[in-house]
Amino acid sequence: MERTFLMIKPDGVQRGLVGEIIKRFEAKGFTLVGLKFMAVSKELAEQHYDVHKERPFFQGLVEFITSSPVVAMVWEGEGVVASARKIIGATNPLNAEPGTLRGDYGMDVGRNLIHGSDAIETAQREIALWFTDSELVNWGPTQK
Ligand code: CMP
Repeated sequence: MERTFLMIKPDGVQRGLVGEIIKRFEAKGFTLVGLKFMAVSKELAEQHYDVHKERPFFQGLVEFITSSPVVAMVWEGEGVVASARKIIGATNPLNAEPGTLRGDYGMDVGRNLIHGSDAIETAQREIALWFTDSELVNWGPTQK
């Protein structure tokens, strides 16, 4: 079954939006199979955002993600990668539709609350980067 990697960024944690964000994915019907509250090392942040390493905002992005704890999650369900991106909304919260997480709660592209894998292959890479197999739990409706 399809899985995606989601990470509530430091701004989402600091603003007390963890419950609200998790609620959206639960309400939609996806299954939580991995969850951890953690500080992010510089090495992990650089690996995670490797695709952006030539971009001018890379250094600031790494500094931000390592500045304060995040919530790393793996969610499972049919079409979860694309659906989670829709629930999250456009990268720049100023362009995100109302009803999406970034549309409802965000104002700044660098402080956009949550990261979601952009494709199935990316999700596989990111899940392997952030979680060990033993940290993921096979359970719920999709395991029947
Ligand atoms: P995310 O979905 O985590 O993937 C890459 C991140 O880079 C993105 O969300 C933004 O937070 C960040 N980002 C993208 N463009 C900019 C920008 N112009 N300035 C600062 N951060 C950016």
